[in-house]
Amino acid sequence: MSSAPPRLILTRPDDWHLHLRDGDALAYTVGWSAAQFARAIVMPNLKPPVVDTALALAYRQRVLAARPAGSDFQPLMTLYLTDRTAPQEIARAKASGAVFGVKLYPAGATTHSDSGVTELRHVHGVLDAMQREGMPLLVHGEVTDPEVDVFDREAVFIERHLVALRRDFPALKIVLEHITTSHAVDFVLSQTARDSRGAPLLGATITPQHLLHDRNALFRGGLRPHYYCLPVLKRESHRRRVLEAACSGDPRFFLGTDSAPHARAAKEADCGCAGCFNAAHALELYAQAFEQAGCLHRLEGFASHHGADFYGLPRNRDRIELRRQQWTVPQRLDYVDDGIVPLDAGRRLDWRAVAGAAPQQPA
Ligand code: NCD
Ligand code: ZN
Repeated sequence: MSSAPPRLILTRPDDWHLHLRDGDALAYTVGWSAAQFARAIVMPNLKPPVVDTALALAYRQRVLAARPAGSDFQPLMTLYLTDRTAPQEIARAKASGAVFGVKLYPAGATTHSDSGVTELRHVHGVLDAMQREGMPLLVHGEVTDPEVDVFDREAVFIERHLVALRRDFPALKIVLEHITTSHAVDFVLSQTARDSRGAPLLGATITPQHLLHDRNALFRGGLRPHYYCLPVLKRESHRRRVLEAACSGDPRFFLGTDSAPHARAAKEADCGCAGCFNAAHALELYAQAFEQAGCLHRLEGFASHHGADFYGLPRNRDRIELRRQQWTVPQRLDYVDDGIVPLDAGRRLDWRAVAGAAPQQPA
């Protein structure tokens, strides 16, 4: 039995890495995230990808239109960097006030990344413009070299590309997304430079799946496709290191669910899609991980403060309540096609987010 309190009241959190998809999926995905999060950085890997400001603004309107009645959920849009992105696009994106980052997918690294960057030198002009405009670069940090073992792709990306990127663009704001290894933690900790507001120049998002699971979850009693995401889960020593980073209170680490919904049949297939779906119960999953690590008192900074501070956005003023209440993650939720299997389906969790029940913060 834990001696933790029966309820937690946190500043409303934000999700700094989220896949909402498009079309009929939005009716589900936007509602799930809006129930827990005030804002979310929305990934641009649609088909076709969101490669310019006009597409991002149109996508933003579709997301806003899918909000539940009364919701003030704010989608923070991103552009998908390609070899052909024009440096002038960055000023347009910045001036729109709706684009908050540019996403680097090495070509072929993950779901819908075939339009990604083939060589970083092709985008140096764009990175220059981003550095000037203060537009963050959000990095899927995995090499795609087929010679590199899938479990090593993050560590090799850091060695081969990130070190040089940091050196060549010392004032560029960079987020290393969904970190999974001790190498990533070490790299983030080695980066101490700050921007003109005193916020870190380099930060990292961390998902619930990488806090709660090591790679054995993929093979427990058989092949478990709902634990397959990219970057793939790593060995236990890495999980511990990433959990320690999340729990450290260091402002360079913040919440990004990487909730990446795929309908059930697309996961349970001969060649199943990468992506864990966690948005419906993300905060509960993070609370579980933080409590297991004895650092629930660090959850609010990680979930609600560090990301906003990194992006130079105000912290949210409203709050969310988590009650200590056991419940079981459902086996399946309604979604397009044949529904969706949430991360940790069937698992008993100890915390439940109570929508709309928390008092406002005094002005
Ligand atoms: C993401 C998706 O499905 O869009 N999948 C994943 O495993 N995380 C893409 C990504 O962020 O890598
Ligand atoms: Zn993602």
